Amino acid sequence: MSIEKPAIIGGEPVSKHWIPIAKPIIGDEEKQAVMEALEKGALASGEFIEKFEKEFARYIGVKHAIATSCGTDALFISYLSLDLTFNKKILTTPLTFIATASAAICTGAIPIFADVEEDANISPEEISKVLEKEHINGICVVHMYGKPCRMEKILSMAREYNIPVIEDASHAHGAEYKGKKVGNLGDIAAFSLYPAKIIAAGGWGGVIVTNNDELAETARLIALQGELREVRGTKTAYEFVRIGYNMRMSNIEAAVAYYQLRKLNKFIEIRRKYARILTEMLEDVPGIKTPTDPAYGKHVYYLYVITIDEKKIGWSRDEFVEALRKENIDARRGYHKPLHQQELFLKINDPRVNYFAKIVKYPEYSKLSYPTAEKLSKTSVWLPCHPALTEKDVENIGKAIRKLISWKTGKKL
Ligand SMILES: Cc1ncc(COP(=O)(O)O)c(C=O)c1O
Repeated sequence: MSIEKPAIIGGEPVSKHWIPIAKPIIGDEEKQAVMEALEKGALASGEFIEKFEKEFARYIGVKHAIATSCGTDALFISYLSLDLTFNKKILTTPLTFIATASAAICTGAIPIFADVEEDANISPEEISKVLEKEHINGICVVHMYGKPCRMEKILSMAREYNIPVIEDASHAHGAEYKGKKVGNLGDIAAFSLYPAKIIAAGGWGGVIVTNNDELAETARLIALQGELREVRGTKTAYEFVRIGYNMRMSNIEAAVAYYQLRKLNKFIEIRRKYARILTEMLEDVPGIKTPTDPAYGKHVYYLYVITIDEKKIGWSRDEFVEALRKENIDARRGYHKPLHQQELFLKINDPRVNYFAKIVKYPEYSKLSYPTAEKLSKTSVWLPCHPALTEKDVENIGKAIRKLISWKTGKKL
C-alpha cells in the first residue's frame, strides 16, 4: 500500500474543509433569547443574568454563582474576595493561560509556581515541596484541558496549612472529581465562557461559584461597583460600601449562556465520544501519547491534547502542527512557552512592565525551572474535539496524524 503525500509538500489534504479548534453551537433558543432581550431593551441588566446564575449554581451543586464579564475577571475577583492581595503568595501552575497568574499580579499578589504532572495538571507532590519551604497564602489549581486535578491530596494539604483553594475551571465545565462537579471542590472557583470554551456566553463572560455566603457577597460587591443594592436590594441603591469594579455579565451575554447551559451535558457526551474515537485511532501510534480518562473522575475534553516524541514520529513538534494545518486541521502548539519563561515574568520587577513592581518584590523567575511544564510546552499538540465537528471530521484528524507519521517513518500506519 502506498503512503499518501502530506499536503505540506503538495499532496491532497485529508479533509476538504477546515476543521476548527473550537466553534460555539448557537441554536434557535439562544437567538430567540437574545432577540427578546434586545426587544425589551434589557441590554445590560435583565432577567437572564439571575436565571443563568441560579441554573449554573444548581448545575455545579453550589450555593452561589456570580456572572462576570469574563473568566479573567472571575479569577481577579475570586483572589480579591479571599484577600489575596499585596505580597500574598498564590501557588499555581506555570503551564496555563496567562490569566490564572496575571489576575493574581493585578491584585498585588505574587504568583509562585509548582511543576505539573505528565497530564499537564499541577502536581500535588510539587505543591507539597513548595509548601514545606515557603509561606503560601492561596492555591489556584487549573483543571487543564478539562481533566480534573488530583484534588484530594491538594485539599488535604490546603486544610493542613489553612490555605484557601481557588479552582480555575475555565476548561472544565461539567468535569467531575469523585462524583462532584469541579467548581464545587475548593473555596471558590472561576469559569470562562469565552466562545471557544465548552459553553459560551453571547460575547465574553465568566462565572464565579462558591458555597461560602460571605465570599459570595464580597465577590458580588467587588464585581458590581461595591454597591449595596446588589446584595441588599433596591432600597440601598447608590450606597457604596467597598471598592468595586464594573465586571458584570450583560443580559444579552447571559441570554446565550442560559440556553448553552441546558446543552452542556449533551456537549460533554459528544466531546467524550470524539475523544474515544481519537484515542482508538491514535493509541497504537509509536511516538504519540494520548490523554487518559482519570479513574477518579470525568474528563470533559475541552481540548484533546497529545504529546509527541519527535524522534519517533520523524517531525519536529512545530513542523508537525504546520503539516496538520495543511491537512485542514486546526492543530495548535498551545502553551508553548510556560509562564515563568514569558517576557512578563522575566521583567516582572520592572515597573514599566508591571506597575505593581513599585511596591511588590517578585522572585527572579528566570532562575526557576519546572522541567515537566517545560517539556510539555515543547511536545504537546492541541487537537479539535468539540460538538460542532462531525464524526467524519474526527476520523480525519486521526487519519491525518497517521498519514503524516507514515510518510516520515516509511511505515504505513
Ligand atoms: C485556564 C484559563 N484561565 C482563565 C482564562 C480566562 O478566561 P477569559 O478569556 O474568559 O477571560 C482562560 C481563557 O482562555 C483560560 O484558558
